[in-house]
Amino acid sequence: MPLPRRTIEIAKGLSLDESAATETLGVLARKGRGKTFLATKIVEGLCDLHCPTTIIDPAGNWWGLTLAANGKDPGLPFIVLGGQRGELPLSAEAGHRLAEVVVQLRLNVVLDVSEFDDKELSRFVGDFLETFRVASQRQRQARMVVFEEAQLLAPQQLAGDTQRMLKGVERIVRLGRNYGIGSMLISQRPQSVNKEVLSQVECLFVGQINEAHARKAIRDWIAEKDAEAMSQLDALSKLERGEFFCWSPSWLQVFKKIRVLPKRTFDASRTPELGHRAAAVEPRRESLTGRARSATRGARRRRGHRPLDRFPRRRFGAGKRAASAGGGGQKEGGAGGCSAPAT
Ligand SMILES: Nc1ncnc2c1ncn2[C@@H]1O[C@H](COP(=O)(O)OP(=O)(O)OP(=O)(O)O)[C@@H](O)[C@H]1O
Ligand SMILES: [Mg+2]
Repeated sequence: MPLPRRTIEIAKGLSLDESAATETLGVLARKGRGKTFLATKIVEGLCDLHCPTTIIDPAGNWWGLTLAANGKDPGLPFIVLGGQRGELPLSAEAGHRLAEVVVQLRLNVVLDVSEFDDKELSRFVGDFLETFRVASQRQRQARMVVFEEAQLLAPQQLAGDTQRMLKGVERIVRLGRNYGIGSMLISQRPQSVNKEVLSQVECLFVGQINEAHARKAIRDWIAEKDAEAMSQLDALSKLERGEFFCWSPSWLQVFKKIRVLPKRTFDASRTPELGHRAAAVEPRRESLTGRARSATRGARRRRGHRPLDRFPRRRFGAGKRAASAGGGGQKEGGAGGCSAPAT
């Protein structure tokens, strides 16, 4: 008897099946309308299905996955690298090496690139994605890559060194499915996301959008995929926070309005309220600013790359929280643990 397909419930009346792991998803809405919340909900579900997931995070919010919603108990088994909450700092030069490790060990990883300048971002993401794609060709397995703030990673207007980074994103999004790579693009500025990349999206979640250029970008996507949905464009401005239209003309063959269900991991992107701390959780590393930060970067460069497998095990792969990340064993956490299947 065939096994029942496992699903990810993201709203009442809308579940994604496990093929979501290799699909191309898009989450678009104006700022603060729940894009990261919805994308996190999907990642929680993918994690339950043992789909190794890589998140490229220029916003610095995705570390929240590692904690349960109460901000205290353990969350999902992700390793966070870089940013204010990273278990290890991220070097702009480590992209190639890191991608090999992430693919080989089937790691769940948040790459917090929020402290990189434009040049570092392009170099790191370009290198990482190139090797990630090639390594995934050798080791075919369903895995997901999330592009937070996709307009920064796959911009429509190229400037400086962004060409290589854009090529990397484009190849993953366009060709990744052949090797089992799914992708999710998140953006508050669809008009600034590269059109070639955006047109690859097969399942689009659109939240409130008012701005004319942004609506035009959505209209273009709809016109290419599903002219029927065009009549609903006016409804976009009336959507509430957490409400989205889900358009998937080919894959799910649905077109419906949804309200995203609560997630179970920590809401690190919650808007800080006056008089309250932004998050009930202290940063784990001292934040470095200005000269201190560039000095650290220089020092890291001078030291050269350290192979990841030589990082202290207590910090990478065998710590209480890190131990459960990726291909190794798994511990049930407050948010419900998960792991990639053993190699
Ligand atoms: N479905 C939901 N249920 C409950 N709260 C939600 C929901 N969606 C979003 N929120 C709340 O709205 C706030 C903003 O959500 P989120 O960070 O996901 O927005 P965003 O669209 O990613 O914003 P930005 O464009 O600034 O990144 C958060 O505090 C979050 O808790
Ligand atoms: Mg967000």
